[in-house]
Amino acid sequence: MKVMLLNPMLHKAGEEYLKSYGIEVECVRVTKKNVPNEILPRLHDVDGLIVRLPAGVNKKLLDAAPKLKVISSSGTGTDHIDIPSATKNGVVVVNNAGVGARPVAEHVVGLMLALGKKIVMSNNALKRNGWDSRETFLQENLGNELSGKTVGIIGFGHIGRDTASILKNGFNTEIIAYDPFLSDEVFQIANAKRCYSIREICEKADYITLHLPYIKETHHIIGKEDFEIMKPTSFFINCSRGNVVDQNALIEAVNSRRIAGAGIDVFPTEPASLAEVEILNERIIATPHIAGLTEETNRKLSVSAAEQVIQVLEGKRPKNILNGEVFSVR
Ligand SMILES: NC(=O)c1ccc[n+]([C@@H]2O[C@H](COP(=O)([O-])OP(=O)(O)OC[C@H]3O[C@@H](n4cnc5c(N)ncnc54)[C@H](O)[C@@H]3O)[C@@H](O)[C@H]2O)c1
Repeated sequence: MKVMLLNPMLHKAGEEYLKSYGIEVECVRVTKKNVPNEILPRLHDVDGLIVRLPAGVNKKLLDAAPKLKVISSSGTGTDHIDIPSATKNGVVVVNNAGVGARPVAEHVVGLMLALGKKIVMSNNALKRNGWDSRETFLQENLGNELSGKTVGIIGFGHIGRDTASILKNGFNTEIIAYDPFLSDEVFQIANAKRCYSIREICEKADYITLHLPYIKETHHIIGKEDFEIMKPTSFFINCSRGNVVDQNALIEAVNSRRIAGAGIDVFPTEPASLAEVEILNERIIATPHIAGLTEETNRKLSVSAAEQVIQVLEGKRPKNILNGEVFSVR
């Protein structure tokens, strides 16, 4: 059996796990979503694929891999994988949702603290202007506490709920959350107030954080009209996928002081160009899609991806199957 890694796995433990089952592993580095044509012939005898951004899987690639039985993303997001075409070709698609929730939740809380307490801004000013910057901060840029604030969470799955748990226990924040696909019980267990619209979250929250998958329905789910109804003191955070937000509208909302600031870990196109990053206002803290990546979690994610690939190759049902209909017809 052969598994191809489109880009190395997040940790070598995953590759070692595959090899311990006698699997042949081939690793191909890909810098764009569309895998170059010259790679395609190498897929003819591949049984499993593990795909890490920026590489993606499209119909052309699937058709070049007649033996393919399973594709795993390296993390949670699967917007880089054409699931309908995989389903048509009888290929199981899995992700590793839940495995990497904690580092993203910690990153979100870190951004909230850094924004409210102006940590990055004051660090930059101190290094630029020395101790004099302190007085400017006290006069013009005094920070705010996270404790006791209202945090609005849009998308209340693994990461949304983990973020809520840290905030509730550590900062006594009020959690309001929107996710139309969950039962009331989920909100009750998380001690969160259920909201029935994005509008309600935008109007009420001091911090708004998105934890949505990127799918057709979530494209630009947050846009200009939403920023217009947010509090001018509010902070907006996106650590899910760049295109769930209209990023131009976000930049404009911060530049015009419609909202107080933003924290983003994801961009509409990745890798983002230096020009796209350089134009960001000082009140936007940006990181290069690293929220979910830590030594501890990378190991767990890589082993989880390898385990699920082997489960499918052994005819067993994997834990995070995204197109169960493929498995049920086997
Ligand atoms: N920045 C990073 O490093 C990083 C790391 C991991 C995951 N992510 C992103 O975070 C996203 C969320 O991850 P997760 O593990 O919490 O996923 P999850 O599947 O556990 O939760 C997603 C939630 O979004 C909800 N949802 C779907 N469509 C919605 C809509 N239109 N309105 C409101 N809610 C909707 C779902 O019901 C679900 O509860 C992933 O899809 C991925 O894109 C980013």
